[in-house]
Amino acid sequence: MLRRPRRLRVNKATRNLVRETKLNVEDFIYPLFVVEGENIKREISSLPDVYHFSLDMLEEEIKELKELGIEHVILFGIPHDHEKDPHGKEAYNDNGIIQRAIRKIKEIDSNMNVVTDVCMCEYTSHGHCGILTETGYVDNDITLEYLSKIAVSHAKAGADIISPSDMMDGRIKALREALDKEGFVHIPIMSYSVKYASTFYGPFREAANSAPSFGDRKTYQMDPANSNEALIEAELDVLEGADILMVKPALSYLDVIRRVKDNYNLPLAAYNVSGEYAMLKSAVKNGILSEGAIYESVMSIKRAGADIIITYFAKDLAKMIKENR
Ligand code: PBG
Repeated sequence: MLRRPRRLRVNKATRNLVRETKLNVEDFIYPLFVVEGENIKREISSLPDVYHFSLDMLEEEIKELKELGIEHVILFGIPHDHEKDPHGKEAYNDNGIIQRAIRKIKEIDSNMNVVTDVCMCEYTSHGHCGILTETGYVDNDITLEYLSKIAVSHAKAGADIISPSDMMDGRIKALREALDKEGFVHIPIMSYSVKYASTFYGPFREAANSAPSFGDRKTYQMDPANSNEALIEAELDVLEGADILMVKPALSYLDVIRRVKDNYNLPLAAYNVSGEYAMLKSAVKNGILSEGAIYESVMSIKRAGADIIITYFAKDLAKMIKENR
């Protein structure tokens, strides 16, 4: 037989040699949840093996990540309940939980890259990602002013990459202008370009205490049925100056990742979200699937075209990669 594909599957070394897609620890961004208070390292019930940390407890975690070769974290802050208000002002407080967390992480390890999520849902009393009109609609253009303040306060605190997740129209342009005006011309924007209104964010909302108090996010996040619209969102972000694009969630949207990758040359991130993590993690913890399922599913995200993967599995994967599985 002229063609025998099995020749290249004959042993491990040969398979390694011809492997098309490789997961590297450099691909990962690990989400970190920071809370007010002291001496807190509390497992998040909806996200097994992921914790809420008070700032004084971050050191060990940052060191562990570094030892595993993970060089990027994305921060999510949970303010005190009494600090939430309709305008989410705690989000742009220079001494807010995120701003202090950035400074703390940089103090622990100045080489740990800190990505910040620019959004309002953790900080607004109503849990929506922007400022509401009287009818409860999220007012796009007023929200842009607030997002700009948040982005600048993150940059001032030392954030390395600013990552807006709110899905307002025109936010990349607004943030770019605000950052440039304050002298942060060198800070990249990783846009949550294609973010669907997904039920797979459920465990995160519990972890971040950020579920909307009424309604849903369907007037700003995308309809899961649409993929042409994904290209429109991506295109707008490219034109407005985004440095990195993102598709979120990842596993149910591999086709969208591929379409965005084939159409744009910017680096592409995919967010392997909390629901995707929780499902698989509990299956592995309960012995229904072996750990290889984690590797295989995150591999599919990379194979679909993602260059960067935001994943709660980053530590698990770093260990698996080290052991060369
Ligand atoms: C903030 C934000 C959310 C996630 C990341 N940033 C929640 C949401 O949009 O409701 C979800 C992340 C995850 O599920 O892992 N807007």
